[in-house]
This record gives sequence, structure tokens and C-alpha cells, in this order.
Amino acid sequence: MQTLTLAFRAAAILGLAALTLPAQTDAGLPHLERTGAAVRLIVDGSPFLALGGELHNSSSSSLEYMAPIWGKLVALHLNTVITPLSWELVEPSEGHFDFTLVDGLIQGARLHGLRVIFLWFGSWKNGVSTYVPIWVKADSSRFPRAHDGNGKALEILSTLSDAARDADARAYAALMRHIREVDGRDHTVLIMQVENEVGVLGDSRDRSAVANQAFNGPVPRGLMDYLTEHKNTLIPELRKIWDDAGGKTSGSWLEVFGKGPHTDEIFMGWNYARYVGAVAAAGKVEYPIPMYVNAWLEQPFSPNPGQYPSGGPQPRLIDVWRAAAPAIDFYSPDIYVPNFAEVCAGYHRGGNPLFIPEAVRDQAGADNPFYAFGQEDAIGYSPFAIDSLPDGDTPLAASYALLAQIAPLILDHQAAGTAAGVLLDKKHDQQKRHMGGYTIDLALPGRNGPSADHGAGLILQLGPDEFLVAGRSLVASFAADGGAETGLASVEEGQFVNGRWVPGRRLNGDEILSGKGVLLPAERYHMARVRLYRYR
Ligand code: DGJ
Repeated sequence: MQTLTLAFRAAAILGLAALTLPAQTDAGLPHLERTGAAVRLIVDGSPFLALGGELHNSSSSSLEYMAPIWGKLVALHLNTVITPLSWELVEPSEGHFDFTLVDGLIQGARLHGLRVIFLWFGSWKNGVSTYVPIWVKADSSRFPRAHDGNGKALEILSTLSDAARDADARAYAALMRHIREVDGRDHTVLIMQVENEVGVLGDSRDRSAVANQAFNGPVPRGLMDYLTEHKNTLIPELRKIWDDAGGKTSGSWLEVFGKGPHTDEIFMGWNYARYVGAVAAAGKVEYPIPMYVNAWLEQPFSPNPGQYPSGGPQPRLIDVWRAAAPAIDFYSPDIYVPNFAEVCAGYHRGGNPLFIPEAVRDQAGADNPFYAFGQEDAIGYSPFAIDSLPDGDTPLAASYALLAQIAPLILDHQAAGTAAGVLLDKKHDQQKRHMGGYTIDLALPGRNGPSADHGAGLILQLGPDEFLVAGRSLVASFAADGGAETGLASVEEGQFVNGRWVPGRRLNGDEILSGKGVLLPAERYHMARVRLYRYR
């Protein structure tokens, strides 16, 4: 009742039409659906490709601060803003909820034609527990901390605390109930991220007395049964750890997974997943939209669990998380490392759809979505600190301007299995894809002359002998299967306006390297529609 009262008060302040009558959920509820070759996000009955950007951590804590940011997001051609919501601001004192920010952010997004993905900064954000309300922070006897090997309490709530889990779950459930009430009809809010980059920092596992006891006990039946049942489809890295330790179907954590920090990490993965899964499940009871958990990745300069958050959903831990947290729909990497393609492949496995909630926002950050959407069927992409991008003609604005034109086509071709993507650099300056009877050679321009350092592209097969090539710094050459020579019948540059192809220049001569291939120059993003013919 209190939630409702607050909702009406917020409605009065903000003039939110949708709040005047609590909305019922309907068939257009955001959900994930596999169609053909790809899992897609479906919103209001249609597939949706999230061209996103994540705000700085503190921007959305003030609606006034946000006021000038909205227009900037629109100018960048985003269709989705990813924004934090913190437990401390939603439940400043226990049982008293304040949804002013939730309502204001939804309203701001609606006014600017944007959708929203909320990040629930609850028990943990980047490993630590600085976003929990002060009534949680200050009461470490009710809400115990994780401890390191020296017995020092960390500023990290212990995953073994039922009291903390239940308090977080109550707050998250209240939030989801409120979102259903104000947005269950409009679907401005697409997806929820539950917590942020969880895991123990400073040690490979929680070494509090309660955690030690659990670690010395048997691996829970739920995990053993899951591993046994899914043995043949487990992520290979986890299967190898289990096999190397003897493939036992019961025993202590050390017996089943072997001695070493990797076992501490698996133990933490199980415990974080149980806790976060319970929080997500409580929210889903109220409003069942897709929910995911993101990972701070293991990196070359911090290769040990505890240097990066130990227990978060690294690719090798996804099965452990799935076993413990069935309410979580997918797992996502925050990608700040240069091996973008490798990370994408690590997450786009075993039915896990790829969604990238954080990435760099420079030229590489503008190139990478061509690969993620084309090659790995990503459902969404989002550079971090989007509000720091300068106004005007940034690489990301240009990249999103083009991708926004072809988003519906990308979604269709993901499902049909007729999309591909490529990333090129000096070390990997040529790659091949095979699609619909053609081998497509994709190379950096000027391999024997002046060349660019990086290229990126997305290729869609529009018809039996027709392709759309989009991106920059790329030469695409086509060879038909079966021995006949392949020629370029026509190459048009152009754009899609309201879904209709509007041709620009007819490209020939130097612009198609005298018939050898379609050239997309390095300076800006282009697209070209190519028709092919065969000759002998
Ligand atoms: C990753 C975190 O998830 C973000 O919230 C933010 O703190 C960035 N790191 C900072 O680079």
C-alpha cells in the first residue's frame, strides 16, 4: 500500500500519466526468445536491438544532474540508457521506500524516446558493499562481513548471510513491484542487471568462520546433481577442472575440484549465485522481465581470483551460476580488454545470449558492435561513461547512427543465420567468412600500400547473390562456391531511411579496386549494397 501511495505522490510531482492507474502487465512484456539461429530480446512483440550506453555511477542519483544528459544520449543515437539505481537511495531506512529517482528516470527516458536497463547496485558493486543503506552498513552483527585470511573484516557483505540476502531481496522485490506498477504497460524498462561485478576482492574467498565451515563441508547436492546431469554440455573449462580432480560426484570442495585458488573461486561462485539468484527470484515474482549478472573479467595484469572479484560469472563459472541461480537469464562481460572477439565467444556459448553492458567508448568501442551484432548475435551493446562523450561527431555517434538504420535487418539476419561480423588489425589483417554459397574475404585496405590500423564490419546476406556490407576500413571480396569466377554486378553506397534503401553513389573503378572488392574507407562508417554475378 505504501508503495502505491508513494507512486501516486511521485505521479503528482512528475505528472506521470502511466502512474495514475497502476498498469497491468501484458503480452508485450520484454522477454528473451530463440528464433532460428539466435536468441533475441522481444519488446512489445517485436525483436529489439539495444544500442546502449551506461552512465557514470553517480549521474542518475540526481534528476537535475541528468537533465542536460538526456539530449546528449539522443544525439548519440542510443535507444537504451543503462543506469544505476542504488539500494541506499531506494530504501534509506528499513522498510521505507523512495522511488522518486525510479520514476524520474523512467519519465526522462520516455520523454526522449529511450528505453532503460536498470543496474541494481544492491549488496555489491565492483565487489564491495558501498551502495548498501547505512542501516545495513553499520550493523555488521546482523549483516556480517566477509573476512580475509588475516581475520580482517572486508567492506564486503558475506554471501553466507541469510539476513543480508533477505533484506536485499525485499528491497529488490519492492523495486520490481513498483516498476510493474508504473511501467508494466509501457515497457520502458527492458532488463534488470542484478548487483554489479560481484566477487571477493582482496582474497580468493571469504575466510570468515561461517565461510570456512561451508568450505570444509561437502559440495552441495544441488551443484553436484547439476554437474552430473549436464556433464556433456558443461563449459569445457569447468569440465576440465572437475575431470582433472577425478570427476567425483560427491566430496568436499577440495576433493571435487582440487587444491588451488580456482576451487576458492568456484566455492564463491556458488555462494554468490545462490544469494544473487534469490534476490532476482524475489524480483521476478513481482515483475518477470529478463535479469542478468555482469562480470569484471580476469585480466592479464590481475590473473588471480581476489585480484579480480572471485566468484563473479567468469565464463568458466557460468554453469555453477546456472545451477544456483535459475532466475538469472544470462551472464554478461564488461569488456575493457583488447581481445574483444575472444571474450564475446566465451560468453556466447551454451545458449547464453551475448549482451555487453560495459565497454570502452573510443574508436574501438565504436567498431566493436559491428562484430558483436554481426558475428555473435549480440542482443545489446553499451559503452561505459556514455555521459562523458563530447557532443558532436564522435566515432560512437557515427557507428550508432549507421547501426540504428539497419537494426531491424540485423535482427532478422541474426535469426536467419545470415549475418557475420569481423574485426581486423595489423596482426589479423584478413579473415574469411562463409555464407550462402560464398566465401567472403575481409581484409584491411591497402595491405600492400598505405593502410589503416583497425577495421570493423558487419555483413548481411540480403538475397542469393546480394549482400550488405557495413563498417569501416575494410575490403570485402567474394568468391562463389563451385569454381566459377565471381564478379561485382553492382555496388551502391547508401542508407536506409525508414527501413527503405536509398542509394547514393554507384561505386565503381577505384572505389571497388577495379572489380576486386568493396572498399569501405577508414575515415567514417559506410554501407554498400553489393550484387554479384558469376562468369567462366
Ligand atoms: C566497472 C564497473 O562496473 C563500473 O560501474 C565502473 O565503476 C567502471 N568499472 C569504471 O571504469
